[in-house]
Amino acid sequence: MEEQLKASPCRIVVLASGTGSNFRSIAESCRRDGFPAVVAALITDNPAAGAIDIAKQYSIPVFVVPVTEKKGRLPEEAEREITGICERHGADLIALAGFMRILKGSLLDRYETRIMNIHPSLLPSFKGLHAQRQAFEYGVKVAGCTVHFVDRSIDGGQIILQATVPVLDEDDADTLGKRILAEEHRIYPEAIALFARGRLTIAGRRVKITST
Ligand code: GRF
Repeated sequence: MEEQLKASPCRIVVLASGTGSNFRSIAESCRRDGFPAVVAALITDNPAAGAIDIAKQYSIPVFVVPVTEKKGRLPEEAEREITGICERHGADLIALAGFMRILKGSLLDRYETRIMNIHPSLLPSFKGLHAQRQAFEYGVKVAGCTVHFVDRSIDGGQIILQATVPVLDEDDADTLGKRILAEEHRIYPEAIALFARGRLTIAGRRVKITST
């Protein structure tokens, strides 16, 4: 069965743990005339995240949910707290932007097919951490990035958009990673706008983009 995804005007809550360059590209896009979404809040597990300063620059409310568990893990209690913040801010869409913890519980239940993530590889290749380095070391000639829906798998939800980046002979993992990041900044807001305009339809593994 096909499922139509529509949420307009779209209120996004962004979850980020680090630098926040994808968060910035989303916040910047949301300021543009005609962009069909707004950032309602930033949630981070990291009190030192660069994303916090970016949120301040854009007058976006910030919520720090500190997690002491080892990297990657998110206790159910913290996930419930995050879910509550999303609900109170009327979230239509949750955008993971470098959020370094794995969702397993309440947020996934509450926002099924309404959570997106950006991953710096052409999924399903190179899941997990340091995907750009994995791709470089494997020797691929074409790398890239993927915006996908989030489900209970790791980096395995339905693919929404992908962008490719050629791997040049003079590249190292860092130069390649920078060019991939530039594409991330382009396709993440694009995927959000498609969602917000109700143009994404999930049909099994496929996400179809309907014309306006
Ligand atoms: C990006 O490479 C993104 O693809 C990955 O985490 C990184 C976050 O970078 N999920 P930034 O914090 O958005 O700069």
